[in-house]
Amino acid sequence: MTIEPTCRVEFGAGAVEDLPRFVTELGHQRALVVTDRGLQAAGIAPRAGKILHSAGIEHEIHDDISANPSAAEIDRGAARARAFGRAVVIALGGGSPLDAAKGIALLAGNPGAAAADADALWDAADGLPVIAVPTTSGTGAETNGFGVIEDTCARRKVYIGHPSVRPRIAVLDPELTLGLPSRVTAATGVDALVHGIESLAARGANPMSAAFAQHAVTLIGRWLPVAHRDGGDLEARAQLMFGAHLAGQALTISGLGLVHGIGHAITAHTGTPHGVALAAVLEEVIAFNAPAAAAAHAQAARALGAVDGDGTAATIAAVRELSGPLEIRKPLRQLGVAREMLPELARAAVQDPVTRNNPRTPTEAEVLDLLAEVY
Ligand SMILES: NC(=O)c1ccc[n+]([C@@H]2O[C@H](COP(=O)([O-])OP(=O)(O)OC[C@H]3O[C@@H](n4cnc5c(N)ncnc54)[C@H](O)[C@@H]3O)[C@@H](O)[C@H]2O)c1
Ligand SMILES: [Fe+2]
Repeated sequence: MTIEPTCRVEFGAGAVEDLPRFVTELGHQRALVVTDRGLQAAGIAPRAGKILHSAGIEHEIHDDISANPSAAEIDRGAARARAFGRAVVIALGGGSPLDAAKGIALLAGNPGAAAADADALWDAADGLPVIAVPTTSGTGAETNGFGVIEDTCARRKVYIGHPSVRPRIAVLDPELTLGLPSRVTAATGVDALVHGIESLAARGANPMSAAFAQHAVTLIGRWLPVAHRDGGDLEARAQLMFGAHLAGQALTISGLGLVHGIGHAITAHTGTPHGVALAAVLEEVIAFNAPAAAAAHAQAARALGAVDGDGTAATIAAVRELSGPLEIRKPLRQLGVAREMLPELARAAVQDPVTRNNPRTPTEAEVLDLLAEVY
């Protein structure tokens, strides 16, 4: 078993104050901060700018990134990065700016390349070095070198990435999540939970990913409800952030599965937030996977505090208990899915590369049945 260490982790309340030191440790004095307008409005991007400015780090803030970033946004960001020149890219935000920043850093190192070439960029030249500063406890995107971006014409998610843009340093500062609205805490927390559960059952799982995933599920199960009830609880925010990071470490080794395959398709067709799309089908996919994932479900159930019984049933019951108060699970028709879209969603889910890593390989007809069940 070969395990590549992922990034250096700087974890703790206030860690963001050390950003200038991290930039200089990577051999640079300049930084392009890639973020979004929500982080500007929340005062987090301006604060990062002030921290960099007061330490004499020349920087620009690029906030032209939306939720579920598009290829066009990556291209615009790359144009900005090329104009700014050699620099560290600081990815500041939830999964959307983190993913976008990786694509931008990669394109900046490859003049002439565009986000539409994503599939051909996996062995391109190196991108700019990336420091990731997550401000949601969800995607774990700070642990890997790829981003999920939307090809708006084909209405599908594409993966853009390269080993060189895997963040060199992940700055995990739970204070940055204190002001996260509760609906975003819920959606991003469920994303992290699904990373842990899918990682345990994935075809690519191994003892190392299982170790990360199991502790991730324990931390998320214990602390997501607390952080959701009281967003100002720093202890809960810190534990949840660490849990989401461990889930990211797990998925980076093992890959994910069908919950994400379907979730990507729902989001690409409706714009539904990633975690909300996952919540819509999580319980049904766990049930579908049961014949191929008994041991993994037993691990997940134990991590969620269920001590005995059938692992699949216990996992579904624990997931239901956890997600109920989060008010996140909605039928597909409430997420903007029209009934006649279901066959197309099933086709897209089966074709998403992530689905190949599911413990049980679904047919389009099986996914269609599953979608009809949650419609
Ligand atoms: N690369 C990976 O490994 C990976 C894994 C899972 C998901 N993803 C991708 O990540 C994206 C979703 O990321 P996300 O769920 O973190 O949401 P997001 O980045 O889209 O953020 C959601 C909203 O929350 C706001 N926000 C973020 N942090 C805040 C804070 N601290 N205070 C106030 N507001 C804040 C943002 O401005 C935004 O409006 C999707 O595009 C998904 O495909 C990537
Ligand atoms: Fe996810």
